[in-house]
Amino acid sequence: MADQISVAVIGAGMAGRSHAAAYRNAGTLWGSELPPIRLAAIVDSNAELGEDAARRYGYERYYSSVEELAADDSIDAVSVVVGNDLHLPFSTLMLESGKHVLCEKPLAGNLADARRMAELEKNTDLITATGYTYRRVAAVGAIRNRIANGDLGDLSVIDGRYWCDYSCDPDGPLTWRYLGEPGSGALADIGTHLIDMLEHVTNGRIVSVSGGSLVTAIPTRPIPLGMVVGHGRAEVSDERGAVTNEDTASFVARFDNGLSATISCSRTAFGMPNGMSFAIHGTRGMAAFDWHRPAEYTLGGAAGDFPSGPRQVLVGPTDPYFGGGYPMQAPANGSGNAESFAYQARAFLDQIVGLDEVPTCATWADGLHTLEVVDAVVRSDATGGGVVDVPAA
Ligand SMILES: NC(=O)c1ccc[n+]([C@@H]2O[C@H](COP(=O)([O-])OP(=O)(O)OC[C@H]3O[C@@H](n4cnc5c(N)ncnc54)[C@H](O)[C@@H]3O)[C@@H](O)[C@H]2O)c1
Repeated sequence: MADQISVAVIGAGMAGRSHAAAYRNAGTLWGSELPPIRLAAIVDSNAELGEDAARRYGYERYYSSVEELAADDSIDAVSVVVGNDLHLPFSTLMLESGKHVLCEKPLAGNLADARRMAELEKNTDLITATGYTYRRVAAVGAIRNRIANGDLGDLSVIDGRYWCDYSCDPDGPLTWRYLGEPGSGALADIGTHLIDMLEHVTNGRIVSVSGGSLVTAIPTRPIPLGMVVGHGRAEVSDERGAVTNEDTASFVARFDNGLSATISCSRTAFGMPNGMSFAIHGTRGMAAFDWHRPAEYTLGGAAGDFPSGPRQVLVGPTDPYFGGGYPMQAPANGSGNAESFAYQARAFLDQIVGLDEVPTCATWADGLHTLEVVDAVVRSDATGGGVVDVPAA
């Protein structure tokens, strides 16, 4: 095994910082077999942001371009955390320079790019991963185990929502998030997380969709005058540009195991800062999760262990990831976004060095599949809600 493993993060914006912080903590989790992690470099075209992130998170240096990073042979593994259209070119360059790549979701800015990335994955021995961080939430893992154990009986009703309000302000800046073909808006930005999450929790695969409906509530936005980080505010010009993708999408998904789910996602749902939630009911029990309360979940059942109705369960060391993966090994001490990014980073590095303490990361094939579902929803919308099959991998 290598003496150390050197990591870099491309993108020092909203999510890039989560990756930068995650690698700092990855070595503290679970077993101690992982070699020391060298925090090597942060890359961002914005020097102020990049230099700040490098200093703040303890990375050795800042690079202003991905070409400089590609030329640095000391680096083993990279997170690609930039706008979606850059995922394919940057990931390709990193693979070509021999680096393992954890690429953020959605896998790419469009389906054609995602298909190319899945092809790249087939033709490399390097590790390629997609950033489906919500798979790593302790409460989600606990629900997944309950379902797999049959504790909820035969599943019958599933509803999933990812409702956010980051786009409610009509004068919020027109960033990369609002530009792209239909499906590249709320569906790609947050719907992909939810699609992957529901498949992960139920251990199923979506094979067709119907009732696809895409709505753009705010059709124009002002052009920003400077840098915008994530969903942040910015000085904007008087000029407005067109929003070319959806604010809200809904559809019905059918799974290969016979299940169906109602699914909706929105970036213009006032009062919902990051409302990713789902409810799953079966013939003998139910489970529900709401990211606004990430360290707990609702569980109800007739199986004897929860005889008096649904109740809140606070996660702790007996739950996936939390056990050995949270500094204070005692229940009800919280758990959130930073933990799931750290768990993901550790899983990625474990894969690179051949450890298997936690489930492997979502693959680029998984990332492509999600975007095939997104594309099917777009086509369903175009036919007034018709049934559209999702191509098999
Ligand atoms: N897993 C999650 O929970 C999660 C959350 C938020 C965002 N994301 C994903 O992360 C990615 C980035 O999103 P974000 O919100 O952090 O975006 P952002 O706009 O906040 O940050 C993007 C960064 O990329 C930099 N950049 C732009 N062009 C560049 C170039 N040519 N070279 C180097 N750097 C460049 C920008 O300066 C900026 O700092 C997206 O794919 C998004 O979908 C994932």
